[in-house]
Amino acid sequence: MALQIAPFDRARHLDTAAMLLADRQRRDRERDARLPGAFEVPAACRPLVEQALDGHGAHAVICSDGGRVIGFAVMSAQVIPQTHFLASFFPPRQASMGLSAHAVEAGAEYDVYRELYAALADRFVSLGFFDHSVNIPASDAAAREAFVSLGFGLSMAAAIRDVAPTGRGGASVDVHQAAAEDAEAIFALSEELTLHHARSPIFNPYIRESDAESHNLQRGLLGDTANAHWVAYDGARAIGMNTFMPPGFLSPLTVPDKTVYLFQGIVMPDAREGGVGTAILSRSMAWAREQGFEHCALHFATANIPGARFWLSSGFVPVEHGMRRRIDDRIAWANK
Ligand SMILES: CC(C)(COP(=O)(O)OP(=O)(O)OC[C@H]1O[C@@H](n2cnc3c(N)ncnc32)[C@H](O)[C@@H]1OP(=O)(O)O)[C@@H](O)C(=O)NCCC(=O)NCCS
Repeated sequence: MALQIAPFDRARHLDTAAMLLADRQRRDRERDARLPGAFEVPAACRPLVEQALDGHGAHAVICSDGGRVIGFAVMSAQVIPQTHFLASFFPPRQASMGLSAHAVEAGAEYDVYRELYAALADRFVSLGFFDHSVNIPASDAAAREAFVSLGFGLSMAAAIRDVAPTGRGGASVDVHQAAAEDAEAIFALSEELTLHHARSPIFNPYIRESDAESHNLQRGLLGDTANAHWVAYDGARAIGMNTFMPPGFLSPLTVPDKTVYLFQGIVMPDAREGGVGTAILSRSMAWAREQGFEHCALHFATANIPGARFWLSSGFVPVEHGMRRRIDDRIAWANK
C-alpha cells in the first residue's frame, strides 16, 4: 500500500465519501440488521457527509492508494460552555469525529484510519484541542482496533432494544407518569444521576453551573406528555425514574423507525437491586408499545458498572461506541 493523505475537496470527493459510508453501513447491517437500510444507498449518506463537513471548525482529509480514494475522515471542534446541560458529560474543548464523519474501504481500516487520524490530530492539537473523540459502529471490530492502537479507549455506548416486555419480573412499586408539578422530584433524581456519574470509576465532574440549563430542559420536557417521565414511589418518596425524549442525540445511521429515546434512568442508591429499575422499565416499555414505538434507544457510559450491567441484561444491545483519547497538553510548549 502506498497511502497518501490529501485535503478533502468537496467537488471531487463527496460522492466517493458517500459511497464509502454507504458501504460501511451495508457491512454494519450484515452484523446488525436493526440498523436502517436506507443508508446503504450513497445518495442517502451524502447529506450526512455534508453535515459533517459543515460542522463547526471542521477539517477533512481523504486517503488514497495508487490514486484511488479508500477512506475519508472529518474532525470538528466541539466547544461546550460550563452552563450547557451536557457540561458534566463532555470535555469543554474537544475535537470529534462523529459516526457519519468517516469511512474506510473494507480490509484497509487499520492502516487508513491511523493515517487519517494522524493528519487531523496534527491540526487540532496545534489549535489547542487535546481531548479527541471518535464514534464508531459498535460491531466494527476493525475500526475499534485501529483507534485502540492510537490510544483511544471506550467511553460511551448507544444501545437499542425492542419495546417487548422485560424478561424478568420487577418489584411491586407504584409507578406514575409525572407532570409539571413534579419538577422538584425530577430535579432531585436527576441530581443523583449526575452525582453517580461523578463517582468512581466514571469520574465525570459535576459542573453545578449547568444546573439552571438542566432544569430548564427538564421543565420543557415535562411540559409535553409525549416525553413521558415514569416515576416510582415508596410511599410519598420518589425513588426512581425513566424519562423520555425524541431520539435527537443519536445518529440517523443507528436509529430504526419508531424509536423513542430513554434520556434518564435512575433508582436511588438505597432502593437498588430489588427490582425497582425493572418495574419502571416494564412500565415505560408498556407505554412505548401503547404509543406505537417499536424500539427504545439510550446512552450509557461504558465505565458505569451498574448502569451498563442493567441495560445489557435488560435487552439493550450497543449500536454505537464513543471512544476518547486525552493528549498530554505539555506538547503545546515542550520540544520548542
Ligand atoms: C441502573 C439502575 C437504574 C438499575 O436499577 P435497580 O433498581 O437496581 O434495578 P433492578 O433491581 O431491577 O435490577 C438490578 C439487578 O438486580 C437484580 N434484581 C432484581 N430484583 C432483585 C431481587 N428482588 N433480588 C435480588 N436481585 C434482584 C436484577 O436481576 C439486576 O441484575 P443485573 O444488573 O446483574 O442484571 C440502578 O443501578 C441505578 O440507578 N444506577 C445508577 C444510575 C445509573 O447508572 N443509571 C443509568 C445511567 S445510563
